[in-house]
Order: sequence, then C-alpha cells, then structure tokens
Amino acid sequence: MEIRRLGASGLRVSALSLGGMLFGASQTLMKGVTSSEEEARRIFDRALEAGINLVDTANVYTEGRSEELIGEWAAGKRDQLLIATKCRFPIGHGMLRKPGPNDWGLSRRAIMTACEESLRRLKTDVIDLYQVHLQDRNVAIDETLRALDDLVTEGKVRYIGCANYAGYSLVESLWAADRLRTHRYESIQLQWSLVQRSAERELIPAAAAFGLGVLVWSPLSRGFLSGKYQRGKTAPAGSRLDVHKDTFRALDTEKNWNLLEVVGRIAEQHEATHAAVSLAWLLARPQTSSLILGVRTEAELDENLRALSVKLTSEDLKALDEASCPAWDYPWDVFRDTEAMEARLLA
Ligand SMILES: NC(=O)c1ccc[n+]([C@@H]2O[C@H](COP(=O)([O-])OP(=O)(O)OC[C@H]3O[C@@H](n4cnc5c(N)ncnc54)[C@H](OP(=O)(O)O)[C@@H]3O)[C@@H](O)[C@H]2O)c1
Repeated sequence: MEIRRLGASGLRVSALSLGGMLFGASQTLMKGVTSSEEEARRIFDRALEAGINLVDTANVYTEGRSEELIGEWAAGKRDQLLIATKCRFPIGHGMLRKPGPNDWGLSRRAIMTACEESLRRLKTDVIDLYQVHLQDRNVAIDETLRALDDLVTEGKVRYIGCANYAGYSLVESLWAADRLRTHRYESIQLQWSLVQRSAERELIPAAAAFGLGVLVWSPLSRGFLSGKYQRGKTAPAGSRLDVHKDTFRALDTEKNWNLLEVVGRIAEQHEATHAAVSLAWLLARPQTSSLILGVRTEAELDENLRALSVKLTSEDLKALDEASCPAWDYPWDVFRDTEAMEARLLA
C-alpha cells in the first residue's frame, strides 16, 4: 500500500482509505444501498489486511451504527488504524425525529456534544482526524475553531479537518486559525472524480497553496464509473443508482457516456477495469492524499484495490482530462485564454 502525507501535517495515510458510510442498515439517506454488518466486517478486515490505515465515518452514517461497528472491530487493532469521523448533521438527518435546535451545526455546544457521542460509539479515547462535515454559515468560524482547538488540547482529537467548504470559507478558516493561534484544518474532504471536477476550480488550488491534505469522497461517482452502468439501459437491479434514481438521471448525459467509452478503452489497454482506471486518474493527481473507497462488497474492494497497480501514461491522462473536462466559465475561461496568449508571447 502506498502511503502519503496528509498535506503539510505529519500524518501518514494510505493512498486508498475505507469509507464507512455503508456499514450496517440505514433508515434514512442510504436506505437499501448499505452492506450487512457481516459483509461490512469482512470489508473492514480485508482493507486492513491490504494496508489501508484510514477509515472514514461520521456521526450520521447509518444513524451512528457505522461508528459503533468500527469501534467494535478496531478493538485490539486500534494502533494500526487512523479513525476519521465528522460532526455537523443531526443523527437521522432530522428524518427520524425532530432534533433540538442545538443538535446540529458547528456551534461550540453542538461540536462538544457530537464529539463526546462519537468517542462513546467508537469506544476510543481519541479521534485521529475530526472533521466538520459541511461549513455552517450561521456560526462564526472563530467559535467553531476555538471549540475544535479545545478538543485537540484536551487530547480527544489529534488533527482537525473539514469537508464540503466553499473556497473562500476554507481560506477564511485558515486565516482565522492563524489570527486566533488555534489548530487549523489539516485536510479537506471533497467530492472529486472524472465526472465531478468542480473542486478543481477553487478547492484543489487552495489545498495546494496552503498545504492541506485532500481526502476524496465518491471517487467513482457512486459507482457510475465502475462500468456496470450502460448507455440506454436501466441501472442494474439493486445497484446504488437503481435505488438513487435521481442521481442516475443527473449522470445520464452524452458527455458522461462518451467519457465512459474513453475509460473503457484505456482499461482494456491496461487489462484493468473501469473502476481501477477511474481511481488511478485520481491517484495520479499530486493533490490527492487518499481516495475514500465506498464499497458494498468485499469483491468491490478487491477490484478497487487494483487501482494501485494501474500506471496511466501521459497520453491516457490527457485523453481522460479531455473527455471529462468541465465547462470552465467565468473567470476561469478568462484565466485560461490569457495564460494561453501569454504562453504564445513567450514562445
Ligand atoms: N464528506 C462527505 O460529505 C461525504 C459524502 C459522501 C461520501 N463520503 C465518504 O466517502 C466514502 C465513499 O463514498 P461513495 O460510497 O459515494 O463512493 P463511490 O466509490 O463513488 O461509490 C461507491 C458505490 O459504488 C459502487 N461500487 C464501488 N466499487 C465498485 C466496483 N468495483 N464495481 C461496481 N460497483 C462499485 C457501490 O455501489 P453498489 O454496489 O451498491 O451499486 C458503492 O456503494 C463514504 O463511505 C464516506 O466515507 C463523504
């Protein structure tokens, strides 16, 4: 397993990590697409055996059951494993019962309570990476950072990170940490894949400029890039995008099917799968710290682990970049055209 540094921090993470969003039954957002507890246990053991050292979960995944399972399975192996979890949303996403007004968000009260509950479910004294799940525009960043900093000082959390921030808020948080002399976010968790490249506008350049680690979520775009979905056909019965039909409709575009053809052609040349090539494209990006794999079965995990041995050529990368290139509108189109003109002037 390849090991990478998490941004400018000293933490070393495996280039592939394991997502816990699908561990155990969900009654809310992931209903019908998760793994049984037995299968999830096999996935967890196999991941550790393959050298994965980071498991990512959240208080809300399978309504807290994901954290409980990871806590049980990590017993006796805690020293081999980095546990990352998150706070921000109320358990059940407000779908099971109406939460109280302080049961979510990034206030001091909500963070401190969520952290205690996660530590209890995870059966651990310390969370390696504690991440805020989404920025909270209703709470001042100073309050959020001071609460997170106290958790580090108290020894309950080792590193802090964020997920799903806008570029301006991410940079604002770094300035605030500097001003307040608190710990800062060491990583950003973001959605990134061949079909979702918006993070390349603001977040990936910000991560590069400020030395933040990048943990990639939905690297296969919920399985769309695995090759099992086909143009003009309905999603395989029981698959994630069969259950989440709106997501499938959003992905069902000419551009994406054409992209899958390019992925398939490159996969054939490397005697690899669509999934392995799609993950290898992300692994080849210098900003990637780790790809958080979301797998429902042990077989999917084994297939995705093979991404580590796919070495894409510069021609492959160019073809994939071109086939997946988003519309870079204002101001990125102006940057691109100006830089191209300047390069011509220098030639
Ligand atoms: N911070 C955030 O806001 C956020 C949001 C989402 C996820 N995450 C994290 O990222 C992790 C991964 O997200 P994700 O589950 O969306 O990742 P993903 O890799 O984009 O999608 C995973 C899904 O693709 C299918 N799949 C995976 N490998 C496959 C293979 N080799 N062949 C065929 N199908 C395959 C499986 O669905 P089926 O087999 O059921 O079709 C699986 O549920 C989560 O567990 C979580 O830790 C974070």
